[in-house]
Order: sequence, then structure tokens, then C-alpha cells
Amino acid sequence: MRYLTDLTARARSGARILVRADLNVPLRDGAVSDDTRIRATLPTITTLLGSGFRVVLCSHLGRPAGIDSALSLAPVARALSELLGQKACFCGGMPGDPATASLIEGLAPGELGLLENLRFHPGEKNNDAEFAQALVAQMDHFVNDAFGTCHRAHASVVGTAERRPAYAGLLVERELAALGELRDRPERPFWLVLGGSKVSDKIGVVANLRSRVDGFVVGGGMANTLLSARGIPVGGSRVEEDWIPAAREALEATGTRWELPSDAIVGADLAAEHGEPWAIGPDPGPDRMFLDIGPATVDRFRTALAPARTVFWNGPLGVFESPAFAGGTRAIAELLAGHPARVVLGGGDTAAAARLFGISDRVHHVCTGGGAALEFLEGRVLPGLLALEQSAARDTDGLLGRVPPHV
Ligand code: 3PG
Repeated sequence: MRYLTDLTARARSGARILVRADLNVPLRDGAVSDDTRIRATLPTITTLLGSGFRVVLCSHLGRPAGIDSALSLAPVARALSELLGQKACFCGGMPGDPATASLIEGLAPGELGLLENLRFHPGEKNNDAEFAQALVAQMDHFVNDAFGTCHRAHASVVGTAERRPAYAGLLVERELAALGELRDRPERPFWLVLGGSKVSDKIGVVANLRSRVDGFVVGGGMANTLLSARGIPVGGSRVEEDWIPAAREALEATGTRWELPSDAIVGADLAAEHGEPWAIGPDPGPDRMFLDIGPATVDRFRTALAPARTVFWNGPLGVFESPAFAGGTRAIAELLAGHPARVVLGGGDTAAAARLFGISDRVHHVCTGGGAALEFLEGRVLPGLLALEQSAARDTDGLLGRVPPHV
């Protein structure tokens, strides 16, 4: 694999560099509400700009079905410009269209452009050859700094790396070093704390991680599907019915400890302003959802995690953005911040929760990727990392990439 130092040593000043970042950040009222992922990629951007390159940044945001103005990257361009103290020229269009092409053409050395949400184009997720070609058409080199998206074989992650000399950005390098240790040499007991709502993304991964970890602590939306798989009523909470058989199989497998919520804070919906405590067991009825874990659950999780020597946390334990349902996530965040184990957090929402509760600097590492980190820990080859390795192996200028210790 080749890194940013390889690029700065070989590329001519003024070269055009396409940077794939993971700028999939939460938005509220048309503004970025947590800029953790933007900050995380700043070292790569400032290094490239400081070396006199022309930088074109690209990312996805959310999971749009087509063009969706609510998921435009325009607010990200504003936040980025503020953080950099330099304008990030926002290209409202798509790669290949004339306005975008002329904006890229007009970038001076040391200037930065940001493309519109790549998932507005169907070619992104399909790794469409034409779309990937349009992305790199005006570029000399490609940098992947989107660790959180390396598990997606999308055009801007894989197709681009196949078409231009490709390098890992500083963020990808840092994530690989931190997660490589967890994957290859975790001190046991190793526990996973899981939450969030992307259940379907996680259950398969969790099943494969069983042999690598000693136990799972589960809250948030994911717990609802697991509780349902155990036949426990969850009222109006969201459950991924299709995943119940896989969840049941995971729960019944021998040798794995599972800690699920025993009490919850319930509310009528995600926008509810007040919650009420609920002991899990009886049916809460269709008008109540589990929106946070309760205090008895926090105590049980504390006991389960006490002997852990390594902990990976992905996904909030409740709707932490709302003060009424933030208590469980806050309690677990504080518990992990004071825990003697090696604690690594992963995922956009988890990183946002860590920042909100002021614990980001009190854990070993905050990883920007959630799904990508889980798949990496599982031992899978991530397409984005593989594409970087293959690019280094193909190296056209005779510069052999360094073999990274963790990939
Ligand atoms: C994430 O938030 O985990 C990454 O940005 C990837 O997003 P995705 O799960 O929509 O591909």
C-alpha cells in the first residue's frame, strides 16, 4: 500500500488529486450538527493543499434514492471552509458535467473543490465504469481517506483506485494502525458494545465475530430485533423482522455471552419530549417504543464489562440526540471513558455521541467507520483497502508500495 508521503514525494506540484473522504455527517436545520468526520480528514487535506496540489474532494451523504436536496453536500462545504480557513469551492453538479469540469479546471495550486453527493448518481453504488472514469478524468492521482466507506465496492472507492495511482490518506493509515491491533492482538476478555439502528448491516457481521470476542452488550435499535428473537414484546419499537432468524441463531450459538436490556425508557415516537421507565417483559403496546436503555440495564452492562481488557463500541444505546433519551448512551460513554480496558469507539453516530458527552479524548481511539470497522475486525478484506493494495502492486512508476502491517 502507498501512503501520503509516497504521493508528496512523487507527484509534481500543481497535480490534481481526487480525495475520497467519508463526509457522511449528521445535518440539522441545513447545517452540519457534528463535524467529527470532517475534522478527521483535515490532516490529509491540509497536507495536500500545503504541498501545492489542486484537491478535489468527494463523498456520499446518507442513502438517497436519487437527487435529494436535503442530502446535498453544500452545508459540508460551508463547514469545511470554516474549519480550513480557506474556501472549499462547492461544485453543485456531478463529475462529467460541464460546470463541474470547468470548476475543477479553474482550481489553482493549493485550492480545494468539493463535488456534490456521489450517491445522487446511480453509477456510484454500482461501481459503474463510466462514472468512475468521469470521476478521475481530470485527475492525476487518487487518495482514499474514507475509512468508513472502505467496505463499499463503490465507484469512488474502488473504480477510482483502479484508474489512477492510489494512496491511503492519513486517516486511513491511522485507523488501520488502531484497528489492526484490535483485530490481531486483542487482550481478552474482548467485549463488543453494540447499538444504533443499522441492524441489518450488523447482525451478519456479529455472527462472524462470535469466535473473536467474549461477549456482546447490545442496546439501541439493534436490541429490539434481538429481544423479539427471544420472544420478548417490544411494543411499537422498530424491529427488522427479516433478520429475526439470523438474530435467533446468533443468540442461541454456544460459547457467546449476550447482555440485552432488561429495562428501557419508552416514548411515543422518536420526537417524544418525555420518556417513562419500563421494565422489559410485559407488552408495552403499539404506542410505546424503547428509545433508551434504563438504569438497571446500565448497571448490568457495567458488571458484564468490568473484567474486559478490550472493548469496541459501535452504535448509540438510545436516541442520544434527544435529552429525554440520552441517559443510557451517556452512562455507557462515561463508563467506557473511565474503564481500564483498551477502548475503541467506531462509527459516525458513536463518534458524535462521544463528542457530545466529552469523552473523545478519554478513550484509546475514536474510529470514523462503524460498518467498515466491524467488517475489518471480522477479518474480511475490505474492497477499498484491497483496491489500494492492488494499485500499489501495479505501480507504473516503479515505486513499490510499503506492505502495511495490518491489512
Ligand atoms: C457510515 O456511516 O458507516 C459510512 O459513511 C458508510 O455509509 P453507508 O453505510 O450508507 O454505506
